[in-house]
Amino acid sequence: MNQEAVEDYILAHIDEEGELLSTLCRDANVNLLRPRMLSGHLQGRILKMFCRMLAPRRILEIGTYTGYATLCMAEGLPDNGLIHTIEINDEMEDFIQKYLSRSPDKEKVKVHFGDAMEIIPTLDETFDLIFIDADKRLYSDYYDLVFPKVRKGGLILADNTLWDGKVLEKPAVSDKQTIGILEFNDKIKNDPRVEKVILPLRDGLTMIRIK
Ligand SMILES: C[S@@+](CC[C@H](N)C(=O)[O-])C[C@H]1O[C@@H](n2cnc3c(N)ncnc32)[C@H](O)[C@@H]1O
Repeated sequence: MNQEAVEDYILAHIDEEGELLSTLCRDANVNLLRPRMLSGHLQGRILKMFCRMLAPRRILEIGTYTGYATLCMAEGLPDNGLIHTIEINDEMEDFIQKYLSRSPDKEKVKVHFGDAMEIIPTLDETFDLIFIDADKRLYSDYYDLVFPKVRKGGLILADNTLWDGKVLEKPAVSDKQTIGILEFNDKIKNDPRVEKVILPLRDGLTMIRIK
């Protein structure tokens, strides 16, 4: 099966991402260094659908980048919902605000600039949904830090958990990102407090439900 053709077919038969997000994508592809990092059309619609299904009141996103996934989750969020999203690179601020300010869901988003490891302990919230999508070396640390802040029955999503298939090979000692993902995947597999499944979507999306 031709994967690219299948993806095109899928994109032609699901909800459109809309003018704001497609403009954001074009802007990112022209002006940013690593546009592939943003969730994109298919994953964005899936994140929105998760929000529709869960009707979360509080979401935490670790790793905002352009705000693409943030805006998708905000679309699916009830009016009384709030997303805290954390981005370490404050050079992204203008880009994020450019699109957030045009979104009808802007009131549902609070952007924090700084290191998630420092900001998360200051958030006095219980989260229904957490999206881990930042430094691959720190996935296990983010998980330990957020775990006490997720309600029972809540969901943690972790992106890139197949890491371009690199999880299948023995990593070089210097490849700390692959090592980080491998450690995280083993940790989740062995955590009896959660139910888990890996979706082979894009680069791998792990769904973790707190029992
Ligand atoms: C893959 S991108 C996020 C993509 C976005 N979630 C989406 O789906 O459109 C990862 C982002 O995490 C940020 N990041 C890395 N380490 C971080 C940390 N410790 N705290 C907060 N953000 C971090 C990076 O600067 C980068 O912008």
